[in-house]
Amino acid sequence: MGAGVTAPSITAASDWPAEALLEAFDDAFSDYIAGAPDIALAAWPVFLRRQGIDLATSRVVAEAGRILAFSLVAPLADGRTRLATMGARREARGSGAARALLARSIADSRERGDRWIELEVFAQNPRALALYRSHGFVPVAELFGYERAPGATPADQDAAIETVDIEDAVRWLNDAAIDALPWQVSAQAIALAATPPSAWRRGRAQLLFHARGEQRVVVASLVDLGATQQDARVLLRALANAHPNATLAMPQLQRADLGGDAMQAEGWQRLALHQQLMRCRFDN
Ligand SMILES: CC(C)(COP(=O)(O)OP(=O)(O)OC[C@H]1O[C@@H](n2cnc3c(N)ncnc32)[C@H](O)[C@@H]1OP(=O)(O)O)[C@@H](O)C(=O)NCCC(=O)NCCS
Repeated sequence: MGAGVTAPSITAASDWPAEALLEAFDDAFSDYIAGAPDIALAAWPVFLRRQGIDLATSRVVAEAGRILAFSLVAPLADGRTRLATMGARREARGSGAARALLARSIADSRERGDRWIELEVFAQNPRALALYRSHGFVPVAELFGYERAPGATPADQDAAIETVDIEDAVRWLNDAAIDALPWQVSAQAIALAATPPSAWRRGRAQLLFHARGEQRVVVASLVDLGATQQDARVLLRALANAHPNATLAMPQLQRADLGGDAMQAEGWQRLALHQQLMRCRFDN
């Protein structure tokens, strides 16, 4: 830092009222590549809980009683931290506030003894990507979103599909021990979901989904451990036939090699935006 330039002062996000943090969040994300999330005050605690964000560990940079930038983190139980979201108000971009916060959250994670800190970022967000790369984050998986228009598909003759309960589904996902899964589709996150998804299994594949009325079905997790993804394809055909009037959707959290290829083979379109799962590893 040059002479006369002072480092931004960083404080815990828990020292601030929800309104102040949400207002900075809405400003930072108002021009977001994936659309402005526009979270209402009443929905803010729900968002924080769903993301597993711990405000005492999360950090902000403020000036004159106003938050300029924030880094919201979720320390996970298993020796890693997820940087759930970070942002800077438009007026604070390029000021060094985001850079200082990121460095601090990385240092906090290292001090907790984590193996790494991780995040997801849109591959089409060059500014955020540049920031993360310059702080030592490297991509460990590409994450795609898919959507399929309503419509049944030819039924399988012998579609042996097992319906499993959520505890069993979470155990299966845990036992699969997949190294690079984004937190939102991991066993940990599924176990915490307020409304448990429906769970189907066939062979080496498991599909978890939420049916939101007749119109939309959202996949919570698809994992096929087989090389050909044939089991995932059978599960996806059964899903299309069980909900022929619904759009089927997978947010940008799906690895192609664990089921995304099956989605494409079954007529799901890849969304234009996709994410990278990135990690900054420590040699603690
Ligand atoms: C992402 C964000 C937090 C970065 O903060 P910032 O203050 O804008 O970051 P900086 O100005 O320090 O720029 C970060 C890097 O991007 C580079 N950069 C700036 N503008 C760029 C652009 N248009 N394209 C590519 N790189 C760009 C900078 O040179 C810098 O690179 P360096 O670290 O190698 O020097 C901020 O832009 C933001 O809030 N964006 C909207 C919300 C968002 O996308 N959050 C991240 C979600 S994962």
